[in-house]
Order: sequence, then structure tokens, then C-alpha cells
Amino acid sequence: MPTTRREVLLSTGALAGTSLLTGREAVSQQSDPLEEEVAAALNVWDFKKIAQQRLDQASWDFITGAAGDEISMRWNREAYDRIRLEPNVLVDVSGIDTRTRLFGQEIPFPILVSPSGGHSRSHPDGELATARGAGQAQAIMAVSTLSSKPIEELARVATQSLWFQLYMIRDRGLTREIVERAEAAGCKAICITVDTPVTGARNREQRAGRRRRQGSQTPRALPPHLTGYKRPESVEGAIFSTTLDPSITWKEINWVRSFARVPVLIKGVLNPADAQRAVQEGISGIIVSNHGGRNLDTVPATIDALPRIADQVAGRFPILIDSGIRRGTDILKAVALGANAVMIGRPTLYGLASAGPEGVSRVIEILRHELEMAMALTGRTSLSQIDRSVLWQG
Ligand SMILES: Cc1cc2nc3c(=O)[nH]c(=O)nc-3n(C[C@H](O)[C@H](O)[C@H](O)COP(=O)(O)O)c2cc1C
Repeated sequence: MPTTRREVLLSTGALAGTSLLTGREAVSQQSDPLEEEVAAALNVWDFKKIAQQRLDQASWDFITGAAGDEISMRWNREAYDRIRLEPNVLVDVSGIDTRTRLFGQEIPFPILVSPSGGHSRSHPDGELATARGAGQAQAIMAVSTLSSKPIEELARVATQSLWFQLYMIRDRGLTREIVERAEAAGCKAICITVDTPVTGARNREQRAGRRRRQGSQTPRALPPHLTGYKRPESVEGAIFSTTLDPSITWKEINWVRSFARVPVLIKGVLNPADAQRAVQEGISGIIVSNHGGRNLDTVPATIDALPRIADQVAGRFPILIDSGIRRGTDILKAVALGANAVMIGRPTLYGLASAGPEGVSRVIEILRHELEMAMALTGRTSLSQIDRSVLWQG
């Protein structure tokens, strides 16, 4: 592993003669006006600032927007900031071990890439660049049903495991086909997103979409996994999507489980009763998520929802969490409150928009190193030592 900052930058290509991208075109590093900022970026927030300069307004709004008054998105951050740490000193922390296991696979650190659609808005290579970056950083990437690149292409460039995120669509035959394609491509888990029977009132995204439609006659093409899907002309009720199936229940989750050959998780759980039901149904795991605040506004921050869910699950299956994670200390807090691993959504996209695969890998590596620092500074040398005793009580 690189040890100095310069070595890190060289290893990730930030100082080497790699190509960086701006808007839709690649420009050589020599003429990249943001080259120095990319090289100097130290944390997720630095990458966010660079991403904003790289992206057009519509793509920026798509990535950073949330639902309603974006209150849950704000709470996701505020809740992490509110939690204080209670360190132990004079512990030998000369060896920090962040390894863990998920569904039989050992991973070097508990950070995965959350599924998100449309990475080609952030980078011309879309999810191919994300998969390369995640691979470089040794992180599992969950690929969205709405990915702008098909799973088979991603599997060809991935050097780490891929998971697949499933949206149940109105066409069950195609839904099954998508799962089978993901498995054939080698995906190691299926995460069914259950918090989106309809999308939230994403006003920023809606405005960006309206502007795009005004400027273009051609309707946006369906993402590759949905090729061949015959959208109904219209559906009953203004809030429903022509693609997402709003009728799904536990029955449909069990239908997927009846033919899936890999672990099936559900993504988007906030209620301990739903977590309890997932245990009873025999689901393989859950992702505590509020979709980064993009669906139901004013639900709590996921880190606030986690403790009751963890109590309910009591270690019977892995719990992952996303929404709002931006620092290594956030990961430590999530593990302390019962998560086996965390997932990062927007931070990956900030890295992707800023510097392609190198940006993705650097964001993940930064969070990994921040987690290691947080562990050393709290006197915890392995993930199993991180529990609620690391949180300031009172
Ligand atoms: C631009 C964007 C697109 C997303 N697309 C999907 C998707 O296709 N499927 C899904 O389950 N979640 C999707 N999500 C939600 C993420 O998986 C994740 O839950 C969320 O981004 C986590 O919050 P964070 O961005 O604060 O890390 C998307 C999020 C963003 C920002």
C-alpha cells in the first residue's frame, strides 16, 4: 500500500499522465483546470466541490437533490454530527484490522458502493469507470437496475465482487430475466429496493427533467437492463411510475428468493418491525437506508433508526446502512450502533465526476483511512471491538 501522500496520488493516477474528464469530454490532464484541486483533495467534501464544478446543473441537481424540503437528507448528516465519541487512550493500536465477512466473503474494510442509476451523467464511461475505481480500492460495488451500462460489461472490468440492486418492475418476466442476468454475470448478492413503490417529490430532479425535456425532442432511452420493456402508455394515478411496480409485498420478495441462487437482501428498511419480519421470512440481510433522503421526506436519519433495528435483529443476519456517510468517524458510529458494513452513494458519484475511476478509488480509500484513524484514536483495533461503549453517554 502507498504510504506517503505523493505515493497515494501517484498510485491513483492523480499525478500521473492519466486522462481526466470534464462534462462529457475527456481532456488531457495538462489542460484540466481542476487538476490541482483533484490532486489536493483530502476528503469527501473536497470531491463534492470539484464535482460541482465538473457537472452541468441538471446532473448536479439529479445527484445532490432529495425529496420534499430535503429535511431527511439534512438530518442524515446532522445525526452523525451529533453523536460524540468516547475514546480510550493507552491502548496499543499499532495494528488496525478493518476486515470483516459478508455472506462468506472476506472484505478488507466495511465500505461498499451503494447502487445508483445513471453514472453516465457523471462520467462518459458511466458505471464502467465506477467499477474500475471500486475495484482499484478493493470495494464491492452494488450495480443499479437503472445503471447506464449493462451488468455483463461491468462484470468484464470489475476486479472485485459486484452485487446487483433490483427494482421490481411491472413486467415480472423481465424482472426475473434481470436477476438471472445478474447472477450469470457473477453478482454475489441481490438487493431488492423496497422503499420506492413510488419515488418521492424530488423537486430539484423534476425541474432538471423539465428543463431537459424543453431542450430536447427525444425521450430519454430506457437504461440497458430494461431494454425491451414495454412501458404502458399510462398508468392509473399520477404518482405511479410506468416502470416501478407499486404493488410489491413480501410475497414478491419471496418469489425472487424462490429462484435466486445468491443471498437476497432488502434495501430501504427503517422500521424495526419490518426488520423483524425480514428475519422471520428468512431474508439474507437488510440495508437500513432512506435512499439518501430521496423518497419520503422527514423520515429519520438512518443512524437514528439503526439502534432499534439492530436490537431487533440481534445479529441474526448482516445489517448494512447507507445515507449520509461522509467521514470515517461516521462508519465507526454505524458499526458501534450495529451495522456490519456501510454503503456510500453520493460520495462515489463525487469521486466519479471529479476524476473518473481514480476519483472513485480515492474517495473509498480516504474513507477507509479515516476509519482506521478513528479506530486508532478511540483505542479499537478491530471491528469486533467497536460497540456502543465507544459512544459518549450522557
Ligand atoms: C443519483 C442517485 C441515484 C440513485 N439511484 C438508486 C437506484 O437506482 N437504486 C437504489 O436502490 N438506490 C438508488 N439511490 C440511493 C442510493 O443507493 C443510496 O441509498 C443513497 O445514495 C445513500 O445516501 P448518500 O448518497 O447520502 O450516501 C440513488 C442515489 C443517488 C444519489
